Amino acid sequence: MALLITLEGPDGCGKSTQIGFLKEYFEGQGKKVLLAREPGGTSISEKIREILLDNDNSEMDYRAELFLYAAARAQLVGEVIKPALEAGTVVIMDRFVDSSAVYQGMARGLGVDTVYKVNEIGLDSVKIDLTILLDLPAEEGLKRKKSQHEMDRMEKESLDFHKKVAEGYRELAARNPERIYKVDATKSVEEIRELILDRVKELMK
Ligand code: TYD
Repeated sequence: MALLITLEGPDGCGKSTQIGFLKEYFEGQGKKVLLAREPGGTSISEKIREILLDNDNSEMDYRAELFLYAAARAQLVGEVIKPALEAGTVVIMDRFVDSSAVYQGMARGLGVDTVYKVNEIGLDSVKIDLTILLDLPAEEGLKRKKSQHEMDRMEKESLDFHKKVAEGYRELAARNPERIYKVDATKSVEEIRELILDRVKELMK
């Protein structure tokens, strides 16, 4: 059975660790799994990622930013996600369209409806089965990121911006309780893993 599962959350919330566990779980079930990150996941989308995260591009217009994320996504959907789903693969995404809804729609203030509308063509009717939100206070996420590597253009945004992101995700989860499963990302890695796997098993029933 094809599935599209997305992981979302503020910068530094620990998505990649949990994605690794999910991959392990599905492969243990004999499923074919595909992982991809956004922005990126194809050679064209990775080039767009460089433009988006480049610290030299501090003058980027918010609308241009929205379209660049959407363009990177459209390429990924066409080249990778859609064919994989059609082949019955479990696709696990490190960020997807909800990142645009929260970062561009809420934190940048372009509006959530506008963001989904802009992304509609590129999504090409692909539907998300389950979204895991790793909920973490903005300060904590940024602290984790700072200890890992140099900050990129988005991470360098103000604390206020990152607070809007964290709050925006909570709001989005409250609006979509069926699809978005919120997990407290201050819990231990192992506890988070258990919570996510329980939810995924429910989905598979
Ligand atoms: P990345 O290094 O992948 O961040 P993380 O490890 O936190 O996932 O960088 C992606 C950045 O781009 C991140 O700050 C979130 C932001 N972003 C958007 O603003 N809009 C989007 O649609 C997506 C996919 C990401």
